[in-house]
Amino acid sequence: METFLAIASKRDERRYRSDRAIPEEVVTRILDAGRLAGSSRNTQSWTFLIGDASLAEAVWAPENVRSAALVVVIVGEAYPFDVGRCAQNMMLAAWDAGVASCPNGIRDPGRAAEIAGGEVKMILSFGYPARERDVEGRSAEEWSARAQRKPLDELVVR
Ligand SMILES: Cc1cc2nc3c(=O)[nH]c(=O)nc-3n(C[C@H](O)[C@H](O)[C@H](O)COP(=O)(O)O)c2cc1C
Repeated sequence: METFLAIASKRDERRYRSDRAIPEEVVTRILDAGRLAGSSRNTQSWTFLIGDASLAEAVWAPENVRSAALVVVIVGEAYPFDVGRCAQNMMLAAWDAGVASCPNGIRDPGRAAEIAGGEVKMILSFGYPARERDVEGRSAEEWSARAQRKPLDELVVR
């Protein structure tokens, strides 16, 4: 998938197919995309825990985690900006392979830390989308125009 098409067509998906596992090489690709993210002074202050359904207890939308084919928890001391870069790298690499994803806000940081054995910065759920999207059926510009986002004119100051 072309990079801008991946960026423009990516949506946060909360419903995953229950009958399709993510192949190991795709899981590795997703994790490697996180590893490759830049971070402040290249500190890379994170580990990537492959989570399980127990993490559902710690998030606002438990079903996202319960129904996911893969849950990745970013654990450690990384700055918020670095966590965002790392998470988006993983989600875009996943989407490039047809795997949808969603970030999960943490409702109970104490419980999340207990499960993960460290400070939890982000919980990402991944899976093949229940409703398939024909990504290549639209141009990146069409995906961009359809996105529920503020128009560029409102965001850019010249
Ligand atoms: C830090 C963060 C936490 C989020 N937490 C949740 C969450 O707890 N549950 C959920 O369903 N979506 C969560 N989301 C996803 C947002 O709702 C989503 O990014 C936004 O609605 C845009 O969705 P779209 O890309 O499908 O248009 C979170 C996103 C971010 C960046």
